[in-house]
Amino acid sequence: MAIDIAKIKADALKGIEASQDSDSLDSIKIKYLGRKSEINVYLKNIKNLDSEERAQLGQETNAVKQEIKKALDQKIKETREKEVSERMTKEKIDITAPGKKIELGSLHPITQALRDTRRIFTSMGFYVVEGPEVEEEFYNFDALNIPKDHPSRDLMDTFWLKNEGEDDSLLLRTHTSPMQIRFMEKHNPPFRIIVPGRVFRHEATDASHEIQFYQVEGLMIDKNVSLAHLKGILTHFLNEFFKKDVEVRFHQSYFPFTEPSVEVFMKLKGKWIEVGGAGMVHPNVFKAVKYIPPGPDSWQGFAFGMGLDRLVMIKHDIDDVRLLYGGDLRFLKQF
Ligand code: FA5
Repeated sequence: MAIDIAKIKADALKGIEASQDSDSLDSIKIKYLGRKSEINVYLKNIKNLDSEERAQLGQETNAVKQEIKKALDQKIKETREKEVSERMTKEKIDITAPGKKIELGSLHPITQALRDTRRIFTSMGFYVVEGPEVEEEFYNFDALNIPKDHPSRDLMDTFWLKNEGEDDSLLLRTHTSPMQIRFMEKHNPPFRIIVPGRVFRHEATDASHEIQFYQVEGLMIDKNVSLAHLKGILTHFLNEFFKKDVEVRFHQSYFPFTEPSVEVFMKLKGKWIEVGGAGMVHPNVFKAVKYIPPGPDSWQGFAFGMGLDRLVMIKHDIDDVRLLYGGDLRFLKQF
């Protein structure tokens, strides 16, 4: 039952000295000072010795125990400090290290075009208003001088949400023009507004036709507004949008809600494409919104509906409108 206290002390101090980290010091603590350590087991059993021996050996062993404890505590303290400072050095921000790359997205080209359009028109005094995508038949067709049997309803094959011709029939708007009516019902001239928004047509898709696309409606009503103003404002808008003087053609055309009517053309890859429709607001439209009857004192105005997707295609040389809605990152990352 006797122990070699001198050897235990020498081994413990050597072990403490050699230890480099907290883990090995913890093991040493358990080995030499733990409940089951040789020293503590010995001290527990020392009561079996006779009293003189007990006093002397007890003192000796306790002194060694204290010595080991002191050396161990000291070494633990030093080691902890060293470890903390090492960790801090390691975690310090290294300003010379290469940065972590944050994946930045970019605005969709149509969103960019919508923002540009708003900016350019507001700089010319236009207000921006928005209308509902789910529209009533009355606003999409009837009030725009497009009666039920009018052939131009066929031009705009429509997504009907509730049956055509019924009192409460609803549809996905085929153009932004219904907002002309909604706005005029609530406001008196003079005013100038644009209505950017998404429209829907039930038609086969191809490189220049999607079933959903964006239009920007424009409406300017005052006493002396002419076709010349329409051409001037649209040309200015297009020059600003493309950041250069662009080639634009106005062709005589037909819309039931304008008279005279024009179509606006621009070039994409050498070919003329239609980018919008426009004209002077038809007297029947003014009648539908109960503006004063035609006469020398009546209001005049122009309206236009530009196909924003087509403008985006021309701006970025995109030859298929469907790319704008495909969600392909290889395409979108280019903007
Ligand atoms: C209209 O929608 C009339 N509301 C425009 C208008 C407004 C005329 C105000 C007069 C006064 P149109 O159906 O031509 O017209 O369409 C206008 C533009 O939308 C076209 O010139 C074209 O640029 C674009 N567009 C038409 N259909 C599609 C389609 N399927 N996909 C992409 N763009 C289209």
